[in-house]
Amino acid sequence: MKTPHIPVLLEEVLDSFSSVPEGYFVDCTLGYAGHSSEVLKRYAMLHHIGIDRDDEALAFSKKRLEPFDSRSTLYKGTFATVLPTLKETPITALLADFGVSSLQLDKKERGFSFSSKTLDMRMDATAALSAHEVVNHYSQSQLEYIFDAYGEIRAYKKLAGAVVEARAKQAIESAIALSEIAKTVIPPGGKIHPATLMFQAIRIEVNNELGEIEGLLDAIEKKHFKGEVVSLITFHSLEDRLVKNRFRKWSSACLCDPHAMRCTCGKNHDIGKALSRKPVTASKEELKINPRSRSAKLRSFVFKNSSGEN
Ligand SMILES: C[S@@+](CC[C@H](N)C(=O)[O-])C[C@H]1O[C@@H](n2cnc3c(N)ncnc32)[C@H](O)[C@@H]1O
Repeated sequence: MKTPHIPVLLEEVLDSFSSVPEGYFVDCTLGYAGHSSEVLKRYAMLHHIGIDRDDEALAFSKKRLEPFDSRSTLYKGTFATVLPTLKETPITALLADFGVSSLQLDKKERGFSFSSKTLDMRMDATAALSAHEVVNHYSQSQLEYIFDAYGEIRAYKKLAGAVVEARAKQAIESAIALSEIAKTVIPPGGKIHPATLMFQAIRIEVNNELGEIEGLLDAIEKKHFKGEVVSLITFHSLEDRLVKNRFRKWSSACLCDPHAMRCTCGKNHDIGKALSRKPVTASKEELKINPRSRSAKLRSFVFKNSSGEN
């Protein structure tokens, strides 16, 4: 089956699950089942649960995963809401490959690309909030907040002002029009397109992307996994920071205030360990065939098993 999306860090993801016992593998960002189909092929003892909020991705993956029908179940929804409701046990492997798929980016009518004639950016086309609403109806201070917090744009105030000024003359109806506004504030010629960070910020807001990652990490924590491996792929520093900090918390034995004179917590609160200190990144070979892998960072965490060992 021809796929609209090349899975990133595929071998590295497969290897991260080499020690998992039989049980369920949850792919929280099923997409086009690039990772899922290979995990199912390599690990015959694993059952599969695929989650996505995008109907188009789910329909494609349902067909792609037909050969594994008896071992696979798909759910529509966001991973932070679906994971806590799963009854299947034991979950022994979990993957999330955050962000948008190549198909979402490339399909002009989804409104993610600078040259889209629409202004949408919803991963779930049935969700209430779209980029059109954010760009045309958020207050100037709300826009400043998202450009600063989710885009880390230095000229965030100026950019929010330019959007408000432009929409006062005429509603902003397309991604093309929006990226033209970005060019008036951020001059072209830098390493990235002037509108890149603005689009990232709006996309994060529309899809509550950082809230979803926090929710997923909370849900994983509450599940009290034993011997499970969690592999998470991030694409920018805001996402990576959330994952890195949570892994650090999970691997810390001591919960005491770092300024406390002495440890009083028993120093036995670590629930597992990261598989590597540094994130795994794409090889030169992968970068050649898939430029999207350039910013991908994979972090894996293994939870202690029921005997308390890693
Ligand atoms: C990068 S793609 C995953 C590609 C997939 N690993 C593959 O190999 O085909 C990310 C997918 O996750 C979905 N997604 C992103 N955030 C989500 C969330 N919070 N809940 C559910 N699905 C989400 C997107 O709709 C998209 O289809």
